[in-house]
Amino acid sequence: MTAARFDLLIRDVHIVCCADDAAAVSPRGFVAVRGGRIAAMGPMAQLPAGACAGDEVAGGGRLLTPGLIDCHTHLVYAGDRAREFELRLQGASYEDIARAGGGIRSTVRLTREAGEAALAAQSAVRLRSLMQHGVTTVEIKSGYGLSLQAELKCLRVARRLGEQHPVTVRTTLLAAHAVPPEFEGRADAYVEQIAGTIVPEAARLGLADAVDAFCDTIGFTPAQTRRVFEAARRHGLPVKLHAEQLSNQQGAALAAEFGALSADHLEHVDEAGVAAMARAGTVAVLLPGAYYFLRDSTPPPIALLRRLGVPMALATDCNPGTSPTTHLPLMMNMACTLFRMTPAEALLGVTRHAARALGLQATHGSIEVGRRADLCLWDADTPAELACSIGGSPLRRRFHDGIEQPL
Ligand code: NIG
Ligand code: FE
Repeated sequence: MTAARFDLLIRDVHIVCCADDAAAVSPRGFVAVRGGRIAAMGPMAQLPAGACAGDEVAGGGRLLTPGLIDCHTHLVYAGDRAREFELRLQGASYEDIARAGGGIRSTVRLTREAGEAALAAQSAVRLRSLMQHGVTTVEIKSGYGLSLQAELKCLRVARRLGEQHPVTVRTTLLAAHAVPPEFEGRADAYVEQIAGTIVPEAARLGLADAVDAFCDTIGFTPAQTRRVFEAARRHGLPVKLHAEQLSNQQGAALAAEFGALSADHLEHVDEAGVAAMARAGTVAVLLPGAYYFLRDSTPPPIALLRRLGVPMALATDCNPGTSPTTHLPLMMNMACTLFRMTPAEALLGVTRHAARALGLQATHGSIEVGRRADLCLWDADTPAELACSIGGSPLRRRFHDGIEQPL
């Protein structure tokens, strides 16, 4: 009988497989990979005698987790908003700046002007930084183009970044992020353009995996959001929503009504909204970077989300205006410190539940036989050690599709 032969064999690791909500650590195990998928795993004592692999990794008793999934980013944009950061330090609010034509619209000006190659180059720097912090799957939204051509440009850049880097990219059309200047005072007409032209074109070209909107006082009303969602539904695209970030617009319930993959932010969600999400299986994507950066003081209702069994994911929300970060493990720390989540919840939030927020739960987000071999090896022993670190980089090795990638 010939001994089992694998492409990759990682030995002697503490494994957090994230296959259920316990996020327990299984000590001293192995993971074997063939064809980019996990082929076998278990305690070292069960490693088949004579098993070998093209690539063997001695884990040295460190922690092995699923590759991290950043399920909410606005990674593709041009320029920065450091000037607005200064204005806010002087007392202006995020809403004041947005109403004065800054905020999202100032990034839109620069993103529209940028050529596709320049936009890709600026965005690639952020993508590589995310990867250096353990990300193997990332969602990238458009939303700084706000015209048919500029939104398609941003989605093309996102797709191309995924083709050029060892990371899985899922794209989301967020044309309903803000009303562009040429539609000033005519938000409904812009929504018609989104529903009638931008969603259909993005769908036809296969550039969007989902559709998102910003439902808030400085974004779109629930009625406008509904029109965007109906267009997504007509074109077979799942939806997500920036909901109850600055105020309660009943956006979470609207998202749930459309079977949304996720409702994101949720600082101002009420019990009816959370209950609707629980019934629909909609994931709560929490964004502690934006909460921190805007110096918010109303955290999302963690105890309520827990009690009603809504899965909680965490993401960077990487964007120039409210969360200029590419450090997903730091978001774990912030979720524990600012939202009082547990380290185990934080780890599930960037793996299992983040996969579900992207509709990838059948293939990504956990270490199980048959799943994609996206893995991270950390200089840590427990999830608490990962979540405890502020800003350091405990990542030692990163594998995407079963292949080790240089850090
Ligand atoms: O998720 N809330 C809306 N969208 C982003 C912010 C975008 C920006 O300010 O550029 C967010 O926080
Ligand atoms: Fe966002």
